[in-house]
Amino acid sequence: MGRVIEMDNLTKIFGEKLIAVNNVNFEVEEGAIFGFLGPNGAGKTTTIRLLLGLIRPTAGEVRVFGEKMTPGSSNLRRRIGYLPTNPRFPPTMTPIRYLDFVGKLFRIGREERMKRLATLIRSVGLLGDSSREIAGFSTGMVTRLGFAAALMNDPELLILDEPTSGLDPAGRKSTLDLIAELGKQKTIFVSSHILSDIDRVCTDVGVIGEGKGIFSGSIKDMKKIIRSRVIRLELEGNLAKFCEALKAAQWVVGFETRGDFEVDITFGPAISMVEAVREVTNLVSRLGLDLISVSSSTSSVEDAFMALLRDEESRGFLRAA
Ligand SMILES: Nc1ncnc2c1ncn2[C@@H]1O[C@H](COP(=O)(O)OP(=O)(O)O)[C@@H](O)[C@H]1O
Ligand SMILES: [Mg+2]
Repeated sequence: MGRVIEMDNLTKIFGEKLIAVNNVNFEVEEGAIFGFLGPNGAGKTTTIRLLLGLIRPTAGEVRVFGEKMTPGSSNLRRRIGYLPTNPRFPPTMTPIRYLDFVGKLFRIGREERMKRLATLIRSVGLLGDSSREIAGFSTGMVTRLGFAAALMNDPELLILDEPTSGLDPAGRKSTLDLIAELGKQKTIFVSSHILSDIDRVCTDVGVIGEGKGIFSGSIKDMKKIIRSRVIRLELEGNLAKFCEALKAAQWVVGFETRGDFEVDITFGPAISMVEAVREVTNLVSRLGLDLISVSSSTSSVEDAFMALLRDEESRGFLRAA
């Protein structure tokens, strides 16, 4: 299987100094449902516009289907379906008329057009509303019409920019179900600022924060990082004895010594950082060691995850992890 999307130091600077996308290098394999996760303002939409060749990178490039994407790459864009955030459609049109119009833009012949729009209207659940004016549609119905429109050209790659944005729980569920279903046949690149949405449907994930790529890999590996916390200790005394005690401590997930004086202790989500530090200092004094320094390894990855997690805890992602 090949790579459908390859970003190569992709960079976009707006004006003189707003670096919206900063040296990003994500790759998407054929057949993946790739979740593009990041808080609001992280650079997701800008990256997607670069992917589609709607804007030019300031530096670096992106290849789609192995070819460099540029504003002139209409041959590549024909193979992509795109659903923007909160799409808008002509309010006086009906789904049938609108999809017919989209099919004409793609120069699909009448017979094939009718066949496709009938199939799509059914598969996105708009059959009962296919002759109603779009003006009266709910956000969920508009989103489903957006999916149908993005699929009209039978694309190999589907790019969805925050498709769950503005939806109620029922709309969110049906949208995620639709993505999972479509993912059986197509490569999907879907952005979201909601971890639990990505968790529900994606096979792989790329995290972006303040324009920078901060994680890329499987959902499983991402959860490992989120759930672990590390405290770094610098100690004086019998480190071996201390390590023995760590092995027996229930709150310790793992540890690693660095030289003769340092140890990184990983603890799980069951206790807070404050509690872990208290446990550590108790252990140190009980064993008669001297504590030189304590620090938590707050790498940029963790910082970014923590920022994401702040408004995530209520959504149940941590419980599901
Ligand atoms: N056309 C533009 N001109 C100037 N700044 C922009 C433009 N588009 C986006 N930005 C800025 O780039 C940053 C990333 O925005 P965006 O890609 O829309 O983030 P996201 O989709 O992750 O919310 C934001 O600071 C935003 O204000
Ligand atoms: Mg956006």
